Amino acid sequence: MADAPPGAWRHLDVESPRGAYPIHVGPGLVRFGRALAEAVRGRHVLVVTDANVARLHLPVLQASLARHRPALAVGVHVMAPGEAEKTLDAWREVIDALARLGATRDATVVALGGGVVGDLAGFAAACWMRGIDVVQVPTTLLAMVDSSVGGKTAVDLPAGKNLVGAFHPPCAVVADTACLATLPERELRAGLAEVVKYGAVFDAAFLDWLEAHADALLARDPDALGDAVLRSCAYKAQVVARDPFERGERALLNFGHTFGHAIETEQGYAGAAGGLVHGEAVAVGMVRAARLSAALGRAPSADADRLEHLLARFGLPTAVPGGLDAGALLARMRLDKKADAAGLRFILWDGLGRGAIVRDVPEVAVLEVLRA
Ligand code: GLY
Repeated sequence: MADAPPGAWRHLDVESPRGAYPIHVGPGLVRFGRALAEAVRGRHVLVVTDANVARLHLPVLQASLARHRPALAVGVHVMAPGEAEKTLDAWREVIDALARLGATRDATVVALGGGVVGDLAGFAAACWMRGIDVVQVPTTLLAMVDSSVGGKTAVDLPAGKNLVGAFHPPCAVVADTACLATLPERELRAGLAEVVKYGAVFDAAFLDWLEAHADALLARDPDALGDAVLRSCAYKAQVVARDPFERGERALLNFGHTFGHAIETEQGYAGAAGGLVHGEAVAVGMVRAARLSAALGRAPSADADRLEHLLARFGLPTAVPGGLDAGALLARMRLDKKADAAGLRFILWDGLGRGAIVRDVPEVAVLEVLRA
């Protein structure tokens, strides 16, 4: 089969403690398959995906592996979709599938799906025989721009999101932007929240670009989406290379996440049942963080207004959902940051493009922006 037109695919390299790995971005990468096949070292592959993604993309991925690597033993594990499935029980099922496949230490897990699949499959790869390769094949915008890059893997507990996990960088990320054509509208918008995050904490000029290209992004213009994915991955690649284990600046990528995780946990990870999905909760959280920054005198409230306007233009929620108690959310945040003995730590900003890690944030100020 012929290759895609040169120039349609782009790639960048990410430094990591396990060695540098490529992020490939472009339309048709799964169908053409070479980048995927080249990332697989050994004889065994376990493809982990969910039932929705399997219908759309699994046969194409299997055909690509069979064409480029006919001798591979390929197993498939299909899980139920949704954040509520990112559990230790589901992790155990992936481990059992690796055992049934007879996966050796040179086996590869291929995570085909969104952030839930990537986190869960990545965590299974981190644990099987103390760590085997994982290739991330993100199919949602959110996974392409955030969760597939940088090696964070985890499962949720009822007590909190991502409480059990490991840093386990992939050996490659294959972001096939053609998958975005079939992404449900809500998932596209949720992914845009994480794209906005990069502009919010690193680069006001990227926020300008997003404002100028908002209509094109919502219309799924392939060039605009490809640029947004590549630029987001470049921001993330730089940060995780400098701080792979989140001992410092990587925490900036959690802008909006302390609020967002509290909302998700309080709602029982019920995106499909009337709650917010992760990107939506992050959108609410980013606006709360910007409002908190203004309340603490760190940033102009006009900057928070501009962020809120951009997120609203992407159809994202910006207010805490009705029915959630501010005190209960605050209690969740204390657990989210429980390792920080100094008190509540937040990722705030000093204005557009200037994220800041702030300790000892007064709880009363947090409660006020939750209630606003
Ligand atoms: N999603 C934030 C990070 O990877 O650090």
